[in-house]
Amino acid sequence: MKIGIDSIAFSTSRYFLRLEILAAHRGVKFEKYSQGIGQIMMPVFPPNEDIVTIAIDAARKAIAHIENIAAIDFLIFATESSFDLSKAAGIYVHHFLKLREDCRVIEIKQACYSATAALQLAKSFVRENHNSKVLVIGSDIVKYSSGSSGEPTQGGAAVAFLVSTDPQIMIIEDGSGVHTNDVMDFWRPASENEALFDGKLSAYNYLKSLDISFNRYLAKTNRDISSIDYVCFHAPFGKMAHKGAQQIKWRESIDDTLLYNSVLGNSCSASLYICLMSLLDHAKTSLEGKRIGLYSYGSGSVAEYFSGIINGKYKSRITAEKNQRMLESREEISFEEYELFCKNSSDSTNKIYENSGTVRLKSIENKKRIYLEN
Ligand code: HMG
Repeated sequence: MKIGIDSIAFSTSRYFLRLEILAAHRGVKFEKYSQGIGQIMMPVFPPNEDIVTIAIDAARKAIAHIENIAAIDFLIFATESSFDLSKAAGIYVHHFLKLREDCRVIEIKQACYSATAALQLAKSFVRENHNSKVLVIGSDIVKYSSGSSGEPTQGGAAVAFLVSTDPQIMIIEDGSGVHTNDVMDFWRPASENEALFDGKLSAYNYLKSLDISFNRYLAKTNRDISSIDYVCFHAPFGKMAHKGAQQIKWRESIDDTLLYNSVLGNSCSASLYICLMSLLDHAKTSLEGKRIGLYSYGSGSVAEYFSGIINGKYKSRITAEKNQRMLESREEISFEEYELFCKNSSDSTNKIYENSGTVRLKSIENKKRIYLEN
């Protein structure tokens, strides 16, 4: 049975900061960010946007083609930016999408790996329930402390995809290489808003885990690297993905996979799938029938290398022009506004910030989040 990704979409903040502005304020050459790290912009989230609002926007786009929304009977929300240790963020999405009452909703976490865990869980679920459609959402907003080495890699986005039988975009193949090890390379204690990290250790562990999981994948599937046509890497910043390509001695360019990431920054759980969308939207030749290798890495750490085959009808499901328009219609903010958002994202300012999607966070009353349709 063929199971995989049937439709896919992403969303991000309406506002962004140019990294040349950040570089000037941090006394760093812009080339360090643009070439050394591979990033040119970062999204910045106003007080009325969060992982739920962008998730709803991405999900609405990903399910726009579905006639029978009742076919969705499982929603998995993958995130490490959760604001509630009890209630799953996906329940707000379930409400605004008007999904059926007997649709299961859960939230899962393992740093940036979580959307891949959700995809594999969804695949097993669909194998057992052939008529099911599982809505997987990866939504994250990544914040590091001001002036830290991680700051220029900050980012955020939500990706939503439907997992079903006869997928129109990509069949997820059986057989993958997984590697788990206990390492303190990046973590965020429940009391903290900003992630803590050991940058050099994290880069080292990303590459070591890639080596191990990739070789496990090749051994399990009895393939060699020449059977893979394209590769997408989890991209905490573009240069890390390029280092990954070097690590496995990949000779083809991965530039097409990183175009969205360079302006979205690290979108954690969404990142790998946004790299896949970047490839789908920008590949110069048809991807029909091509095998895509995918490397998912979540600090802490769990890594998985797996692969998919692109369906002949994938072009009918991609929305390259819309994605481009969404990114081009974003508004630039000043360094002062960026700093204001960093200090306290719930600070009110004189400016009324619009949000990118159809739902906004109206207020937080008695620690309850109130969302409204725009
Ligand atoms: P840093 O230490 O400030 O940077 O931050 P650096 O000094 O290592 O320089 C970076 C690169 O820029 C170097 O190139 C420099 O040579 C170059 P490289 O040696 O790497 O090839 N450079 C320049 N290039 C051109 N012109 C110039 C110039 N100056 C310097 N003028 C670091 C880098 C990655 C450590 C930092 O961004 C960081 O700590 N980031 C956060 C952690 C992170 O993203 N780790 C990635 C792997 S872990 C992961 O992927 C999981 C994660 O997504 C979380 C999760 O799973 O939830 C993070």
